[in-house]
Amino acid sequence: MSLALLRELEPVVETNLNRHFATAKEWFPHEYVPWSQGEDFDGVLGGRAWEPGQSKLSDVARTSLIVNLLTEDNLPSYHHEIATMFGRDGAWGTWVHRWTAEEGRHGIAIRDYLLTTRAVDPVELERARMTHMGAGFETDHPDSTLHGIAYVSFQELATRVAHRNTGRISEDLVCDQLLQKIAADENLHMLFYRNLLAASFELSPDDTMRAIRDVVLEFQMPGHGIENFGRKAVQIAMAGIYDLRIHHDEVVLPILRQLNIMGREDLSGTGNAYRDELAAFMTELDRNATRFEERRAAIQARRNA
Ligand SMILES: [Fe+2]
Ligand SMILES: [Fe+2]
Repeated sequence: MSLALLRELEPVVETNLNRHFATAKEWFPHEYVPWSQGEDFDGVLGGRAWEPGQSKLSDVARTSLIVNLLTEDNLPSYHHEIATMFGRDGAWGTWVHRWTAEEGRHGIAIRDYLLTTRAVDPVELERARMTHMGAGFETDHPDSTLHGIAYVSFQELATRVAHRNTGRISEDLVCDQLLQKIAADENLHMLFYRNLLAASFELSPDDTMRAIRDVVLEFQMPGHGIENFGRKAVQIAMAGIYDLRIHHDEVVLPILRQLNIMGREDLSGTGNAYRDELAAFMTELDRNATRFEERRAAIQARRNA
């Protein structure tokens, strides 16, 4: 199934590769780092040690940037997963390597920015990276190409939004510009995968529906394995960088709409049952998002009083 599907999708990969090469604009991470603010650290070079007062970022901006960076840092594991799933030959292989190179740029750029501006504790950051990468990343459905394509479609859009909103709340023009640039990359990645997902629907509607149902119901951010992720995620949600409302309105729903999930007429009875489960979940997610917004507003009102 999986191998046949990979072969059937290869022409679609080829078309979308060409579209990607034509639309992706070359950019250079070094241009987004204010190197003149840089300074030696203590240790080997005997410079100044890091102290919290040196960071101009708010606590939550710092948390969010660290989560985004650690997420990008785990690239070797993601590469392993998608190279195993999609293979390294032909158009698939070209995409896997190109995607990896673009993602590699994100971690490089954010780290250079954070260290140059002394935005975060460099020792803590390195230790967090070691712990996080030590745990690795595994997809929930390693044997299913369809689940893989479905997951990355939503994941790329989720990271796009997370980067974009982190830049916005950073209150630092350089940081905002850098994260806009990264978010633009993530958007092109999302388009690539979403187009593959649309093509999968044409080839095998019921199986694609099932993969989407599973991925949406089980969705976790790619960085969910980061130490104390739960606490960090709450802080990020409270600041409106990434919360249930955003997840529902700006990530899951737009992709479901684009794929015309609710209007499809090519599903069998099983496919329809998967779609019903997905629809019920979306209603529940919407309700939970509203509940979260109300709770957040109440907490903020209490804080302001
Ligand atoms: Fe990225
Ligand atoms: Fe990406």
